[in-house]
Amino acid sequence: MLGKTEIETLLTDLQQIYGEDFRYYSRDSFERRVNRFVKLENFKDYSALLTKLRSDKHYIQHFIDHITVNVTEMFRDTAFFNTLNRQLIPQLTQHSTIRIWHAGCSTGEEVYSTAILFQEAGLLEKCVILATDINSRVLERADSGLFYSSLMPLYEAKYRLAGGEKNFSSYFTKTTEGEKISENIRSQISFQNHNLASGNYLGKFDLIICRNVLIYFDRIMREMVFRLFDDSTGPNSFIALGERETLDLSSISKHYTKLESEMIWKKTN
Ligand SMILES: C[S@@+](CC[C@H](N)C(=O)[O-])C[C@H]1O[C@@H](n2cnc3c(N)ncnc32)[C@H](O)[C@@H]1O
Repeated sequence: MLGKTEIETLLTDLQQIYGEDFRYYSRDSFERRVNRFVKLENFKDYSALLTKLRSDKHYIQHFIDHITVNVTEMFRDTAFFNTLNRQLIPQLTQHSTIRIWHAGCSTGEEVYSTAILFQEAGLLEKCVILATDINSRVLERADSGLFYSSLMPLYEAKYRLAGGEKNFSSYFTKTTEGEKISENIRSQISFQNHNLASGNYLGKFDLIICRNVLIYFDRIMREMVFRLFDDSTGPNSFIALGERETLDLSSISKHYTKLESEMIWKKTN
């Protein structure tokens, strides 16, 4: 087990060796994940982990892949997707191009759920969807468009609660590896590695969906991410967060109005 001092040393070393800044992650969550990783990889102490991180330049990505929490599912929080479907999507119909950014997309369930709803609104062809994550392992999985067959009944039930009206199974093809999302949906989405802490600008978007990601960050990092989102949106764009996340106390909140029911904000100026 790494103690608090070693965790602080690790955070500094990661920044110095790789320029990877985890200092803004919630400490408790970071500490838990690091200790889980240390146990899993059988490091006997901190210096063994540091030697590995220093000697193998590819190991850092493996480390990041294990440190991040990637829990997700299709139509997670059905009320959110229902609001997206019934209130938000209709406000984007007049756009000639609809630019969407899913920040912290994990294995893709969330972004494919969104794409299905845009498809049903007849708007998917106008959508340019960018889905990003810091974890290359989940991005590979997301890019494959594959889902476990055993989860399909649950996802279908959630799709209905989100207001889906078509034959849910028509969006997938059965393969030996699982259910594969149809190519016309898959082809509208680009997956890319992007670290929100880098502050790197990816362009302007009409809708940014970043759900269940900011809960792992501290207040300073959340504020940095909000500024990046603000730079990446124009008037009438939307920012959607998770159930336990809010834009309300941030420095950008004065430019946004919250939709009544869900954690969705519209930029007013
Ligand atoms: C709990 S998952 C949420 C997935 C999805 N948004 C959802 O709500 O179902 C959080 C995701 O954020 C990603 N993440 C964590 N830190 C990140 C960072 N600094 N930059 C980009 N993505 C990050 C993780 O790798 C993980 O896939």
